[in-house]
Amino acid sequence: MNILLLGSGGRESALAWKMSQSPRLENLFIAPGNGGTSAYGTNVALSPLDFEAIDRFVEENGIDMIVVGNEDPLVAGVTDFFASRRPELLVAGPVKAGAELEGSKDFAKRFMTEFNIPTARYQSFTAETLEEGKQFLAGLKAPYVLKADGLAAGKGVLIINDLAEAQDALAEMLAGKFGASSATVVIEEFLSGIECSVFVLTDGHGGYRVLPVAKDYKRIGEGDTGLNTGGMGAVSPVPFADKEFMEKVRTRIIEPTINGLIHEGIDYRGFIFLGLINVGGEPMVIEYNVRMGDPETEAVMLRIDSDLVDLLEGAARGSLEGIELRESPMASATVMMVSGGYPESYPKGKEITGLENVTDSIPFHAGTKRDADGRLLTSGGRVISVSSLGKDISEALKQSYKSIESIKFDGAYFRSDIGRDLM
Ligand code: AMP
Ligand code: GLY
Repeated sequence: MNILLLGSGGRESALAWKMSQSPRLENLFIAPGNGGTSAYGTNVALSPLDFEAIDRFVEENGIDMIVVGNEDPLVAGVTDFFASRRPELLVAGPVKAGAELEGSKDFAKRFMTEFNIPTARYQSFTAETLEEGKQFLAGLKAPYVLKADGLAAGKGVLIINDLAEAQDALAEMLAGKFGASSATVVIEEFLSGIECSVFVLTDGHGGYRVLPVAKDYKRIGEGDTGLNTGGMGAVSPVPFADKEFMEKVRTRIIEPTINGLIHEGIDYRGFIFLGLINVGGEPMVIEYNVRMGDPETEAVMLRIDSDLVDLLEGAARGSLEGIELRESPMASATVMMVSGGYPESYPKGKEITGLENVTDSIPFHAGTKRDADGRLLTSGGRVISVSSLGKDISEALKQSYKSIESIKFDGAYFRSDIGRDLM
């Protein structure tokens, strides 16, 4: 099978690594990929949003399946585009209507309300209803949670302690603080608990598989302090996501979500990422995403002992029947090395050395590229996601931190406390 993977981050490195192990794979292409994905396939200089160019590439290279790594092409309708242009082409990723679970927080909240899926109480506001929004905030207890409705690269959520500040922030958001993304703002009740990420692969016909559960670490600073980032590390499994908790997740969240999508007539074949919070033992949904998490994927892929190509193909064909997903009994951990200054401004083009000395971890590339001489350079905020297996989380982390000592670039930073809260 010839596969085209769309995306360029650490998540796509991990998906490419896992797919490259499949005996079913003939050729893997990654568009656009990064400085490390060429170890698993061929990088192609194509934008995941340029559907016409992708279509020509599919034709010229006999692509059988497209796997969509990031949300932007899904929200822009890549799956619908190919469903009408090339019905025989398999696409692992939901149609546009399904991608709205991530593309519009207001849609996601209405969906959860309709299908009785546990989530924080909320109300949505636009510029016309600003005053009602301020009143609604006044009726809530601090802290106040304000979310831009549309995609905002993980930056559209504000959590504010002071009422007057929250009311001002609402006005700013509705006036365009996040562009069109915040033309509608969701205000919701604050939930207190520990978060985890549950990934489900579904085939659009009620069949699904649950992937290993992970926890990511979003803040830049030790002890979960400072600015939010795309994610500084992840571990899997998550001790509190035990059998009893996961049974609640299955019956109260996963099955109502999948049945709700079918009820709405949405043909959803791909990953559903449930951002959950454990509120006194009860799982509630913080957010949906319509792709895998990053850096969770860099931990989760190490714990899948089945063929990922089989699973993705089953989902894209519309039936996962008979396709198993075996979870490794080992634990995994990934620690993200980032550019100094991230998530604010940071330099690019720093040479990365020492990767050849990493033997017992996988250094998944994220923001890396090669120059004309083949030198490896930083090209983003999150640079290398160092992933390891161990008999438990603590062993896996120890290995990732040991491997990090070998990897060098100017200004490199990482959190040294990933997973500590779980041990
Ligand atoms: P989201 O983009 O919706 O995942 O929000 C980003 C982060 O904000 C989440 O990972 C949570 O840490 C936090 N968050 C979002 N909604 C809530 C909420 N209702 N209560 C508490 N924390 C929240
Ligand atoms: N790690 C969180 C995300 O991928 O959205």
